Amino acid sequence: MVTPLSSPRCVSCSAMTARTAWRDGVLYQIYPRSFADSNGDGIGDLRGILGRLDHLEWLGIDALWLNPTMPSPNDDWGYDVADYCAVHPDLGTLDDLDALVAAAAERGIGVLLDLVPNHTSDQHEWFVEAASGRDAPHRDFYVWADPRPDGGPPNNWLSNFGGSAWQLHEPTGQFYLNNFLPSQPDLNWWNEDVRAAFDEVLEFWFARGIAGFRIDVCHAIIKDRELRDDPAATPEDHPLIRERGHKQMFSMNRPEVHDVLRRWRGIADAQDPRRVLVGETYVLDLDSLMPYYGQGEDELHLAFNFLFVHAELDAEALRAVVEGVEQKLPGASWPVYTGSNHDAGRLMTRWAGDDERRARVALMMLLTLRGTPFLYYGDELALPDVPLDPATALDPVARRTGDASRNRDVCRTPMPWTDEPGGGFTTADAKPWLAFGDLAACNVAAQRADPGSVLHLVHDLIALRREHADLTSGSYATLPAAAGAWAWRRGERFAVALNMSGAELEVDVPAGRIAVATDRARDGECVAGSLRLGPYVGVVIEIAPE
Ligand code: NOJ
Ligand code: CA
Repeated sequence: MVTPLSSPRCVSCSAMTARTAWRDGVLYQIYPRSFADSNGDGIGDLRGILGRLDHLEWLGIDALWLNPTMPSPNDDWGYDVADYCAVHPDLGTLDDLDALVAAAAERGIGVLLDLVPNHTSDQHEWFVEAASGRDAPHRDFYVWADPRPDGGPPNNWLSNFGGSAWQLHEPTGQFYLNNFLPSQPDLNWWNEDVRAAFDEVLEFWFARGIAGFRIDVCHAIIKDRELRDDPAATPEDHPLIRERGHKQMFSMNRPEVHDVLRRWRGIADAQDPRRVLVGETYVLDLDSLMPYYGQGEDELHLAFNFLFVHAELDAEALRAVVEGVEQKLPGASWPVYTGSNHDAGRLMTRWAGDDERRARVALMMLLTLRGTPFLYYGDELALPDVPLDPATALDPVARRTGDASRNRDVCRTPMPWTDEPGGGFTTADAKPWLAFGDLAACNVAAQRADPGSVLHLVHDLIALRREHADLTSGSYATLPAAAGAWAWRRGERFAVALNMSGAELEVDVPAGRIAVATDRARDGECVAGSLRLGPYVGVVIEIAPE
């Protein structure tokens, strides 16, 4: 059973106005090991997610993106896939996945899986075979190159996880490319057989009813055919590029990637109902991001915006990104916004500095901008990152770089459902795979019982979106606002004003009524045209009819 996230195939333009969940809905990212454990082994699993669909339905979620669910040695927690057409035994079975997809569909919730096409695990049978000799049939599934004359790696490419992106394979005397861990060899997407193998993977999961894919590092899969050196970063580059020292111009983000995305879009569009492609497009300028939507909507449906993710929670910075998107986004393409994920961390900590007022403003922003919001499990509680000892990190990035600030475990901890032992996540005596944070300070049950909680704010904002098309499909227009504030209009009947500063501010807004305020005390208040907003307070205003 598939919950259509796209409008049904329709040649008339009415298809453009039908409610499409990937554009109008709210999507929710689940880290399956950390959502709910159904069998008391301390590891979240698919049956656990199925048992918590009530929460997601009540919240008003339209679709889930599950972080990797396929068999994996877990060197990079599922992003090292050993079999693309099965389920990791820690998480359950194919039957469990089918049951989850069916139960979610009954509630109108679609399920997107994580597709990892850039690399496999070194345990995948393709790589095991490819490494067996230079003439192995699958040798060319991966990117192999001879050493330089001095024996060094073929070029200057750097792994995203530190060090050279090349690993010498001594038995065959060649280097293979690994843009992440050495146990994550990069696939060779110039090879037509690789493309055909992934066509089958897509078809396999679409036939099982999954609503689409989030595609891991999808901008990276094709490498420069000549393996040219990446150029040095320049002062104009984004700080994260300058930190790396190289612009990833030849090691990823090549123009030929668009051929592959068009091919996948063709497969997704040929399904009934159509399926959805969301890309992890980790490029840090908008001009590089926009082409991933294709020409005339023939590539990704949604391309994650990391410029937005990595901007500070600051009115000027975020407004500049959103205005840039509004100017540059091609045709009918659609923005996507998120503040947390399993790599970047949780918005409550990284954006809001653990100040709940700021997290409420951030959530109001995500849920009222023109674009699809992705919430990361726990965002609805303003769940913070959990400080964990980097010495015992399970995240390979923290282990490999020794950099505590890069420990991704802190944002992958179990969902706090209650304050009881086991947190409602697992049994009282089980040891969760990652430690809980402060269960008493933040859990679903307590917030559900408190109408003033962040959970109710998120619920009410989602309900408001569902009720008013202006808040989903309505246009965006910036309204003038004092420094530190950001205000915009959505469609005919709504305006949003956010004070993102620590000082009280006066903001000019259209006259109307506050539909939802982040501090809830101001819900229902009439607004005559100008509004004093306390520090870190935001409001959604329903504009009075003329
Ligand atoms: C991006 C994923 O989001 C991240 O968690 C993973 O480590 C890398 N891709 C490698 O697959
Ligand atoms: Ca389990």
